[in-house]
Amino acid sequence: VKKDFIEDLISKMTLQEKAGQLNLIPTTGFNKTDSVHLWIKKGLVGHVQKSIGVKNNYELQKIAVENSRLGIPLLFQEDIIHGYKTIAPVPLAEASSWDLAAIRKSAAIAAREASSAGIHLTFAPMVDIARDPRWGRILEGAGEDVYLGSLIAAARVKGFQESNKENSNILATVKHFVGYGASLAGRDYNILDFSERELRETHLPPFKAAIDAGVSSVMTAYSAYDGVPLVANNFLLKDVLRDELKFKGLVMTDWETVGNLVKTGIAKNDTIATKMSLLAGNDIDMSTKKYVNLLPEMVRKGIISEAVLDNSVRNVLLLKQKAGLFKDPYAYFNEEREAKELLSEENIQATKEMAVKSMVLLKNKNNVLPLLKKKQRIAIIGPFAKAQKDLLGWWSSQGNPNDVVSIFAGIKKRVPQTSTISYAQGCIVEDFEIKGVEMIADAVRAANNADVIVLALGEKEWMSGEGGGTASLLLPGAQQQLLDAVAKTGKPIITLIVSGRPYVLTDVVKKSTAVLQVWMPGTTGGTAVAEILFGDYNPSGKLTVTFPFHQGQVPIYYNYKKTSHSFNAGPKNNRYTTTHRDITSDPLFPFGFGLSYNSYSYKNLKLDKTTMNKNDSIKVSVDVTNKGKYNGREIVQLYIHDKVCSVTRPVKELKDFLSLELKPNETKTATFYITSDKLRFIGLDYKTTIEEGAFEVFVGKNSSDTSKLDFWLE
Ligand code: IFM
Repeated sequence: VKKDFIEDLISKMTLQEKAGQLNLIPTTGFNKTDSVHLWIKKGLVGHVQKSIGVKNNYELQKIAVENSRLGIPLLFQEDIIHGYKTIAPVPLAEASSWDLAAIRKSAAIAAREASSAGIHLTFAPMVDIARDPRWGRILEGAGEDVYLGSLIAAARVKGFQESNKENSNILATVKHFVGYGASLAGRDYNILDFSERELRETHLPPFKAAIDAGVSSVMTAYSAYDGVPLVANNFLLKDVLRDELKFKGLVMTDWETVGNLVKTGIAKNDTIATKMSLLAGNDIDMSTKKYVNLLPEMVRKGIISEAVLDNSVRNVLLLKQKAGLFKDPYAYFNEEREAKELLSEENIQATKEMAVKSMVLLKNKNNVLPLLKKKQRIAIIGPFAKAQKDLLGWWSSQGNPNDVVSIFAGIKKRVPQTSTISYAQGCIVEDFEIKGVEMIADAVRAANNADVIVLALGEKEWMSGEGGGTASLLLPGAQQQLLDAVAKTGKPIITLIVSGRPYVLTDVVKKSTAVLQVWMPGTTGGTAVAEILFGDYNPSGKLTVTFPFHQGQVPIYYNYKKTSHSFNAGPKNNRYTTTHRDITSDPLFPFGFGLSYNSYSYKNLKLDKTTMNKNDSIKVSVDVTNKGKYNGREIVQLYIHDKVCSVTRPVKELKDFLSLELKPNETKTATFYITSDKLRFIGLDYKTTIEEGAFEVFVGKNSSDTSKLDFWLE
């Protein structure tokens, strides 16, 4: 199909049909006389969301192709965030694997399932950098770091969009352009309040990475930046997105955002809102029907030129062409393939591998884990022990809680037959008052009759995700009381944290013998937990987001900028410093932190030279030895600090990492190259630049535990 085909099609379209192509709607919210079928027949719908499965989508597609005047196929869109039917761990969890190939594969599996079910486009990946765990959507991104977040953004785009089988990929949408992760105070939809420097240093790079990886569309954020909602922000959508980042694909609004311009008090009526949104470059209007209802008349009255409308229609038709819809509008509708693909053995297995890699061991006193004794009594306690929906997490598409292996079921299946298990719920997360005291007493009884306790704590699925902003970062309900009561038994406690965000686990860690952050691990969560607890898999995940020591520290992240006054003076003698008066500046667990059943030693950190120029590089090497008894994977991290610079620089920035697979007693050398692109920064003029001078390179296990050497750029 050539481009002429698109131009030819545009030339045949009425104004109403053109506006229809910009209309993305859910199939809900129609009454019978005003039915979605009728709208499609009239050419008033270009795209459909929230319509699921081959059977439904085929029926709608047939109407568009056979009964609308021009027969333009529909593009089916959906939130496929971490799986379609086989649900993978939430994206923040996947990021903790630091395994780009596995993350890419996970996106490819989601694409395979979704495409088999008649979906062409996903509203993912979300690449918003998030440094405030109060924000519920932190779980949808890759964490706090720009470098890692950008690599993961590209991996996810490639995973969704490429395929090794025909018709098994989907178009990716990078969102939410831009800065949504910095919603003020972690309150969803709140304004953004950061500088252009912060925009360029922190928020834009993952979008650039996604665009460079070939992402097909961009979704604009709900938020307002510098006083202008993103949906109407010409500076960001035109100057930055189109001109600087050279994005050529389609731009869509988020849900209801055209109308939100009126709610925000930016537009006085829907016509102005529609004009602002289209002129800023939003090609598709999600859910409001304002484009389709208002644009034809607006063009007739000269409020909008037809050329602007045509431009957006062209972007839509090119996207449909990219999805192959003009070649075969029914290519994604094969019920047999759908039945085979969903929850296939291969998909389940891959999802489980992803889940084990994404869990992060935070504490393991006296090597209580793995549980190797053949004969022991295990009490499985806690409101998340038998949870299924909560393991799926927010945006779990068609994931069915009944398909989820709970933690209890996973352990039950894996535990040696000579051991016994018991269960107590311990508390209700949402409510302490009702049966709290009684339930805790039951749990203590179960604990007293056990040798070891597995305590599953965390948050309900609805507590994070969109609209899931929280002021308190302490575990909700009576969970701390439950832990405190169980801890009084003196038995070893292995606490599992099911959550989509970092909680303040300071008191949880104190009272637990071991702590495993299991996140919202998806369909195979319970199996993955059991494999780690019983030592089939040695945990290797590392945090991509800082875990605060106290909620007053938030936002807290490892790559803070240097100030004139010390940041980490500690709780004593800290007046006239950037430290809080009453607590340490240190987090509970830093970015990059994660334990293993092994310990790893780092020795002989070396540079092959200490001076480089801009066309040159320095080789960095360090020897890493597995000092433990198990095979393991260690993620070795490299950070850089620019010591003297025309703008304030972070104390450390991740610039490289690699994973080493190490057998017991094995030593491998991790080798990195410092090239000039790792030393570039956003200069005073907001352009990328590089300055000569002194730098420090840090290599280590996490952002705090590193060794340092100096080098010089001349
Ligand atoms: O894709 C989402 C977006 O992230 C938040 N609002 C709704 C959209 C469509 O479901």
